[in-house]
Amino acid sequence: MTTVPRVGLGTMGLDTPAEANAVTTALEMGYRHVDTAQIYENEAVVGDAVAAADVARDEVFLATKVWADSLGYDDAIRTTRESLDRLGTDFVDLLYVHRPRETYDPPETLRAFDDLVDDGLARGVGVSNFTVPELDDALDLLDAPLVAHQTEYHPLFQRPALLDHADEHGYDVVAYSPLAGGRVREVDEVVEVAEKHDTTPESVSIAWLVAKGVCAIPKASSETHLRANLRAADLELDAEDVVAIDSVEREVELYPE
Ligand SMILES: NC(=O)c1ccc[n+]([C@@H]2O[C@H](COP(=O)([O-])OP(=O)(O)OC[C@H]3O[C@@H](n4cnc5c(N)ncnc54)[C@H](OP(=O)(O)O)[C@@H]3O)[C@@H](O)[C@H]2O)c1
Repeated sequence: MTTVPRVGLGTMGLDTPAEANAVTTALEMGYRHVDTAQIYENEAVVGDAVAAADVARDEVFLATKVWADSLGYDDAIRTTRESLDRLGTDFVDLLYVHRPRETYDPPETLRAFDDLVDDGLARGVGVSNFTVPELDDALDLLDAPLVAHQTEYHPLFQRPALLDHADEHGYDVVAYSPLAGGRVREVDEVVEVAEKHDTTPESVSIAWLVAKGVCAIPKASSETHLRANLRAADLELDAEDVVAIDSVEREVELYPE
């Protein structure tokens, strides 16, 4: 699958087979995008849960991320192979640089990612937690197209310059913690829009991201939350709703450097 589905399932914290069963439930209810990472230490249970779903592997957009301690050329190749073993798959649809820190060396790391694409182990390259200068540098160095930038994005943490950069260069933005880890229900502007549309603040947060052309990967455990988050992509907000949420001035960054 080449395009990034608008709503995916974040899996951080789905650690046991019972918890990861949410992945199987999600795929069977219509999710087609699953997001994990080496550092979550759940690739094996997530891979088992993807395999258990009555959905063909080729229909699932599966993403993982190489952690900051493994971004040297050899370690990036080796640990990606280990991720694929744990996930029980021959390839991931998207392989992210999780954070441009520690062992991140742009020419060396991105050459490894290009080689992983050339060898068919990753269908696309993504980056996560990058600044605009880091994105520009990566775009210069990569042979493969940049598919997506995964970054914290929710009503309490907005970075419109990152959306403009993505538009200009033709890659997707994937919003992590799109529900602000559950705190969107504390935001008056979001609550007001939710009341107007007779829905929840969580659904509004996802619909607001989708209205801006951003993909969202909420993590959810229960069938009720999973279903609500998937359906939220179809909630149409009015232009004034989007502007009201754009103008939220409080700021909470859940994952600062
Ligand atoms: N690239 C990075 O550096 C990075 C960093 C952080 C996160 N991420 C990714 O982003 C994903 C999501 O971020 P996150 O887990 O931090 O936060 P989040 O998705 O913003 O929020 C998850 C929380 O919201 C609750 N929730 C989900 N759907 C709900 C609904 N419809 N109504 C009410 N509550 C709801 C969940 O509860 P239940 O579980 O009880 O449903 C959970 O407590 C992660 O799983 C991970 O894949 C990436």
